Amino acid sequence: MATYDVAGRSAIVTGGGSGIGAAVAEVLAASGAAVLVVDRDEAGARQVTERITAAGGTAETLGGDVTDEADVTAMVAAAGRLGPLRIAVNNAGIGGAAAPVADLSVADWRKVLDVNLDAVFLGMRAQIPAMIAAGGGAIVNMASILGSVGFANSSAYVTSKHGLIGLTRNAALEYAAHGVRVVSVGPGFIATPLVERSLDEPTRTHLDGKHALGRMGRPDEVAALVAFLASDAASFITGSYHLVDGGYTAQ
Ligand code: NAI
Repeated sequence: MATYDVAGRSAIVTGGGSGIGAAVAEVLAASGAAVLVVDRDEAGARQVTERITAAGGTAETLGGDVTDEADVTAMVAAAGRLGPLRIAVNNAGIGGAAAPVADLSVADWRKVLDVNLDAVFLGMRAQIPAMIAAGGGAIVNMASILGSVGFANSSAYVTSKHGLIGLTRNAALEYAAHGVRVVSVGPGFIATPLVERSLDEPTRTHLDGKHALGRMGRPDEVAALVAFLASDAASFITGSYHLVDGGYTAQ
């Protein structure tokens, strides 16, 4: 696993109990960070924490919901107890119901926007002051290729990820002078429980072929980019959107 030095820093990884978030938590810990693995699936998060500590890293579990302001405040406080908060990866996200716009319920629309976009706003509101107090840091927001292109029957998801890229750009401008970098990452389709839950086998096979590399990505391939962006190796990178998509959007 490729690592970048982030020793002595504490990091929050939301949605760290599964898929991409779990891989991000593991690579940040292997890179020296003390990682707070946050997930509403506390058991999933605990398994990741156990894997990290078994490998000699430092991690703690926090069961919590990123859409809940009190939980978000608790996350930042818990991460602060692990060390100065210098890294936050706002990764928790959901796919949502598949339907064209006119058939999508208002409740389904709001649910996706609430988790994928509003919760990142809530998270950054709490994370940024703590990072400034710690002397600066890096925030990586998990967008998607669907932050720059559409995908039929996924309007809420696509809108949430497009919005997240804009939110990222704005926060980057507002906090650059305070030493806080804010970036977003746009994975192509990655083989995780989210994709396995929401897409059937024929659709997954079809999607393999939409990537120039002829397959979906792996969580560790996204985590490698996140680890780089979170580290000082990316010290001149802020406000930008970074694809890791196997050539999906090159076509
Ligand atoms: P996943 O379903 O494997 O993991 C997501 C984790 O987030 C789960 O453990 C879930 O419990 C947690 N979570 C969901 N809502 C939460 C909430 N309200 N509070 C706390 N935790 C919550 O999904 P995956 O694929 O690892 O996705 C992670 C992120 O990557 C998401 O933001 C997703 O939109 C994004 N992404 C995923 C892609 C893929 O193809 N798998 C492609 C592009 C982006």
